[in-house]
Amino acid sequence: MRTIRVNASKAYDVLVGAGLLDRAGGLIKAAAGGDLAVVVTDDIVAGLYLDRLINALTDAGYKTCVFEVENGESSKNTQNYIKLLNFLAEHGVTRSDIVVALGGGVVGDLAGFAAATYMRGVPYVQIPTTLLAAVDSSVGGKTAIDLPVGKNLAGAFYQPEIVICDHDLLQTLSERVFADGMAEVIKYGMIADPELFRMTDLEEIITRCVTIKRDVVCEDEFETGVRKLLNFGHTVGHAVEKLSNYAISHGEAVAIGMAVETRAAVSEGFCDETCLNELIETLKRNQLSFESPYGTEELFIAAGSDKKRNGDTITLIFPQEIGKCVLRDVKVSDLKRLIACGTG
Ligand code: GLY
Repeated sequence: MRTIRVNASKAYDVLVGAGLLDRAGGLIKAAAGGDLAVVVTDDIVAGLYLDRLINALTDAGYKTCVFEVENGESSKNTQNYIKLLNFLAEHGVTRSDIVVALGGGVVGDLAGFAAATYMRGVPYVQIPTTLLAAVDSSVGGKTAIDLPVGKNLAGAFYQPEIVICDHDLLQTLSERVFADGMAEVIKYGMIADPELFRMTDLEEIITRCVTIKRDVVCEDEFETGVRKLLNFGHTVGHAVEKLSNYAISHGEAVAIGMAVETRAAVSEGFCDETCLNELIETLKRNQLSFESPYGTEELFIAAGSDKKRNGDTITLIFPQEIGKCVLRDVKVSDLKRLIACGTG
């Protein structure tokens, strides 16, 4: 088992290893204490892993209750958020109890945002069950729900008590959901670690990504600077996701976004074609698309409502080489030209 210590405003451990689910009760008790554990999960994950988690929590002395949502991005909505807050209130949850997110990014973001805001904050724990959640969304304390206008528009920075990543749970992922997470792994390769393009050992891949994320989050927890690097591919990616009405998944959309934004970087002279070609080859090897199904105008309008916009500027992340990216503020009025370069 690997332990990555995150010294953010709240310090916590990310544990990465095989067989951790059955030890989760004791690990959570040691990290966070509490009497009642409210497990938030989705219908697919519940069928696979909920019983084991409930047994582990019960063995550690927790009383438990379960809030289940349908799997998929559309569950990260205001209705489920309010339902979950009411569920916590009806079950008499207090600040000495604990919310446990068992699932992928949707469950983690929804549970985390409810935990951040219910009674002005109750402790929560992340148990990621997708590669994407393991390498990215479960770590760093970004929690959110989507609004009709755009993704993650209501949210909070709120760090978990512990992240327990049992990579055995990733064995049941479909090829498509696994590829979805590989897009974020490739993102970490692009911003910080070229070796991630070639690695195969899952525990090592997750550990490397989490370590990169830990370093970035500890430097800039509230995303005023360097943390924006983690948004590489996400300006166009979020636009693609939204235009597809979330039929294109987050990772698939980020893959397209990385390709579009790297093409734009080549056209602006930040990097050369070899960087773009290596990215595209790596996306292809991982069954990820790199062409936008949407044109410049649609992408530009959808990207304009992205939360990363700041007045009339938006920060884009441009690769200089594999493993090194830089932040550039561009005028929203210039974004359309850049997207045209990226899709052309
Ligand atoms: N997923 C990007 C971040 O946590 O900052």
